[in-house]
Amino acid sequence: MIKCKPIRVGGILLPTNVLMAPLAGYTCYPFRILCQELGAGLCFTEMVSANALKYKDKATEQLLFTTSEEKIKAVQLLGSDPAVMERAACSERLSEFDIIDINMGCPVPNVFKSGEGSALLGDLRKASAIIRGCKRSGKPVTVKFRIGIKEDYLYAAELAKMCEDSGADMISIHGRSRSMMYEGIPYYDQMEQAKSAVSIPVIANGGIFSEEEASYMMEATGADGIMIGRYGLQDPFVFSRLTGKKTDKDKYRIISEQLELTSRYYDETYTMTYIRKLASYCMKKRQGTKQYKLKLYQCGNLAEMREIIKDIFYEGEEIES
Ligand SMILES: Cc1cc2nc3c(=O)[nH]c(=O)nc-3n(C[C@H](O)[C@H](O)[C@H](O)COP(=O)(O)O)c2cc1C
Repeated sequence: MIKCKPIRVGGILLPTNVLMAPLAGYTCYPFRILCQELGAGLCFTEMVSANALKYKDKATEQLLFTTSEEKIKAVQLLGSDPAVMERAACSERLSEFDIIDINMGCPVPNVFKSGEGSALLGDLRKASAIIRGCKRSGKPVTVKFRIGIKEDYLYAAELAKMCEDSGADMISIHGRSRSMMYEGIPYYDQMEQAKSAVSIPVIANGGIFSEEEASYMMEATGADGIMIGRYGLQDPFVFSRLTGKKTDKDKYRIISEQLELTSRYYDETYTMTYIRKLASYCMKKRQGTKQYKLKLYQCGNLAEMREIIKDIFYEGEEIES
């Protein structure tokens, strides 16, 4: 078991040090509420383009949707222009959010080419100006970064120091380079060096797919907390197990509740896309699920989807023979 403890981020106390990673297409409001309920200390929105904030488009509205049920609200911003990032962080549209997180890790070619995400790892002056600009919002600012662009040159400690010196209140380190994308063993030593270089809280991320790996991450890096991504989609109960937060729900119940909560606040198309992807992730460890996935992708409305979710996840009462 990991040592579960609260973490202070600026003036905000996160209840636990087990965080859910921002995941594009997944960490919408309903999923964040689920993680909060199961004990996650914080769950971020997926990355939101700072440039897109000036438009009132539906997609950005959906990304920013939240209610007072979400106790601590953290929005992740993606951008490369310090002035645009500052304007976004200070904008009225983010007024509900308590924490601003800056994306310095996204490896996707289009993002990288436009100087955003992991490209900022190659321009520390600009990265620092972005953090300083976002701090002018008066809110705690956190940074999520990778440990370098290419695997042959890793400099997590330098990046951590730059973040701290620029005013960051917490850093989350994905222990891989941009070139590693989402595969390969994370560099625990890099995260450990980064932790030793700063006094702000350090969260270690990457490749945690079991409770043992969670413990190992804490031990090997000395980090203050961990951040879980894909494992949290496969098995959201990991937060409950790691934090000791009790729940009497099963997978069927949480997925059904996700469906209802999503359809309350989002349209049918969004809800169906999200539930399909979430249910598929939740089946990752099961055998013989091809037919279920096919049904999920073929079904045409929420009523049908409710039935399919029941077929897949409802285990029913034990019948004594
Ligand atoms: C589908 C997907 C979407 C992601 N979206 C984001 C994102 O919006 N912002 C971000 O900082 N990282 C994003 N990431 C990276 C994760 O937050 C995390 O750093 C990465 O998956 C490693 O953690 P894991 O091995 O526990 O999954 C994404 C990863 C995946 C697989």
